[in-house]
Amino acid sequence: MQTVHSVDPLRRAVATLRKAGPLALVPTMGALHEGHLTLVREAKKRAASVAVSIFVNPLQFGAGEDLDAYPRQLERDSALLEAEGVDLIWAPTVEVMYPQGFATNISVTGVSEGLCGAARPGHFDGVATVVCKLFQQVLPDVALFGEKDWQQLAVIRRMARDLDLSRPHADRILGVPTVREADGLAMSSRNAYLTEQERQQAASLPAAMKAAIVDIEAGKDVKAALQALETTLLGSGFSAVDYTSLRDADDLTVLDSRSPRPMRLLAAARIGRARLIDNMAVMPS
Ligand code: PAJ
Repeated sequence: MQTVHSVDPLRRAVATLRKAGPLALVPTMGALHEGHLTLVREAKKRAASVAVSIFVNPLQFGAGEDLDAYPRQLERDSALLEAEGVDLIWAPTVEVMYPQGFATNISVTGVSEGLCGAARPGHFDGVATVVCKLFQQVLPDVALFGEKDWQQLAVIRRMARDLDLSRPHADRILGVPTVREADGLAMSSRNAYLTEQERQQAASLPAAMKAAIVDIEAGKDVKAALQALETTLLGSGFSAVDYTSLRDADDLTVLDSRSPRPMRLLAAARIGRARLIDNMAVMPS
């Protein structure tokens, strides 16, 4: 396994790997957990070589967010990736990614508005800009992202389609189902911010979402189900709910009632120092 920190050695490493066949990219911000490693394992099934990027992207953090607190543990991450048989780690510095004078912004309208886009202004511009750069730097044949960040996946797919990205082609941006802890909490690097008590309470997020889905699938009024979900969260340790929303799974349009197309329930709520997000499928009517 090779680790590179600047663009020229990256291009050389990628050119060598590509001779062996298709190359997969798994973009991450590090502090790796089983969710990330599952993406890596899926990548290995789909390509001859796997590159993982590790970059805590300042562009996608808003003022007052956790950029400085975000866990950075490259040595530990490297050992985990080595054990998975990863071929290349791309770990640029901020100066390499955004050299003096950097002035370009990629902004995807529509799917990036609302939900986390409303709660975190500029966040998805930062994500789209860095992911577009990562794609251009590594030119992967396939790229893997977690369904945990459903809206992020929709934004990246939209960007790849709109910009006619050929590597990876929009159809080769793959979503991997959310990996969860035993109590249902979606794995996240930000779970490390929770105290023991908050960590226990956090499991009420997926549990309450499941209960809301049972109600919605049984035909209960969507607004009432979402209201009950928010009340449950605020009663079980969450200090604020950023949003709960039923959406079309693909274009993320707001749904006030069940739809015959695939749907998704999405939620974001704050507990202790953490802001947790989750999303789950809702069966079409
Ligand atoms: P990060 O939060 O490190 O996540 C990297 C990838 O792992 C993302 O595609 C995310 O959806 C996926 N992931 C995280 N937790 C997961 C879980 N429990 N199950 C399955 N997949 C999970 O998302 C980012 O970084 C950044 O925004 C990035 C795309 C790297 C751009 O900076």
